[in-house]
Amino acid sequence: MRALQRPAALVPLVSRACARAAGGRARSSSGPSSAPSRPAIAAKHPYQVDLKAGTRYAWCACGHSKKQPFCDGAHKTAAPDLSPLRFQLDEAKSAWLCGCKHTKSPPYCDGTHMEEFIQKAELLEQP
Ligand code: FES
Repeated sequence: MRALQRPAALVPLVSRACARAAGGRARSSSGPSSAPSRPAIAAKHPYQVDLKAGTRYAWCACGHSKKQPFCDGAHKTAAPDLSPLRFQLDEAKSAWLCGCKHTKSPPYCDGTHMEEFIQKAELLEQP
């Protein structure tokens, strides 16, 4: 199995999705007493992608995008209190981006998808 590394050149542009995916706080759309949305499990595996240097990417943090692992704007209606993680790299590289949306190292897979709560979960219906 190929080892996963977090590149030092990752430049996070928005950290809200990162904090949310890591179990932290997120913006709430309906007041402080409502529970924040939890990301949907888009896949039970990571996506291998070739990332270009200097390109701005938006990793889907809500799990509702039809363009996994990237954002297609679906969070605006499906999970308005979750936002994509925007990032860019200084160097091009191949990476495994999280598809389960529960990684503690977004946007990268950290192996969380192997946990029972992911493997036994039902996936969203894809068109
Ligand atoms: S796909 Fe989410 S941690 Fe691996």
